[in-house]
Amino acid sequence: MKLFFAPLQGYTDHIYRSIHNEVVGGIDEYFSPFVRCDGGAVRNKDLRDIAPENNCGVNFVPQVIAAGVEELAPLLAVVEQAGYGRIDLNLGCPFPLQTARGRGAAALANPDKVEQMMQELKRHDTLKTSIKMRTGFTSTDEGLTTIVILNNFDLQHITIHPRLGVQQYKGQPDLEAFARLKEASHHPIVYNGDITSTDGIDRIASLFPDLDAIMIGRGLLARPTLAREWREGCERSEGERLATSLEMHRRLYEYACRTLQGDQQVLARMQAFWEYQKPLVDKKVYKRLMKTTSLRNYEEAVRSLE
Ligand SMILES: Cc1cc2nc3c(=O)[nH]c(=O)nc-3n(C[C@H](O)[C@H](O)[C@H](O)COP(=O)(O)O)c2cc1C
Repeated sequence: MKLFFAPLQGYTDHIYRSIHNEVVGGIDEYFSPFVRCDGGAVRNKDLRDIAPENNCGVNFVPQVIAAGVEELAPLLAVVEQAGYGRIDLNLGCPFPLQTARGRGAAALANPDKVEQMMQELKRHDTLKTSIKMRTGFTSTDEGLTTIVILNNFDLQHITIHPRLGVQQYKGQPDLEAFARLKEASHHPIVYNGDITSTDGIDRIASLFPDLDAIMIGRGLLARPTLAREWREGCERSEGERLATSLEMHRRLYEYACRTLQGDQQVLARMQAFWEYQKPLVDKKVYKRLMKTTSLRNYEEAVRSLE
């Protein structure tokens, strides 16, 4: 079973992906957080994130989000110009800032837009396409309609996160809806959602033995060694996991201090690194890491973990 690292805006930027790949690995493909247009132009920050020179040695797929062909076309152009042969289209983001513009999961309620975007992707036949979607925006019927449209196009795979867009992250993943969409699709399917342990990987792999891959997001942020542990068939101790996180931290902190401006920016980036790792860190130290406003204080808190 292949394992993919899910895209997580604000967390899995190119430096995180590179460091994870170097220090831990165990991942077959990383996906970039979505690249998007603002005011008609592709954001510079996103361009830097997918630039080939910032992604050396990492097997990663650039992801884009768009409300329709007008927004999609410039995104396809930059991905092609950067020399990539792969692209992932986001039809799953549930955040109101995106869905209010018709992007992400909201596109699932608009089959004409999906069809038009797929036709545009087909015209760019150097780009092998995959889709990342929810089971629908407001109902599973929307997801099924989308799957039927997607059956008419060549795709690498479809990743399905089995929640509706309007649920955001509430409730449990709907495995029944996942199975229905998977049944209806002619494409290889990737499961994504709420996997936090090696048992969780085994459970999904045994429920759906013909999956193309399993994609994990927050579970890997919380335990960066999760995929590696599953591959090796050997759970690591809390101490070993913390040691790995500290090594990732050392490299990320060095990069953040070198490239970001001002303590606040550096602290914000590092706090995002620790945010999902709360269970791994002593309670008091965690509070200090998240609350501090000075780098000196922050460094002292990290040292107390070593
Ligand atoms: C903070 C945050 C940022 C995310 N950013 C993206 C994104 O840029 N592109 C995307 O396709 N999904 C994004 N997602 C969704 C995740 O990729 C994933 O589908 C979701 O978290 C469910 O998987 P998990 O339970 O393994 O985390 C984001 C999720 C979170 C919580």
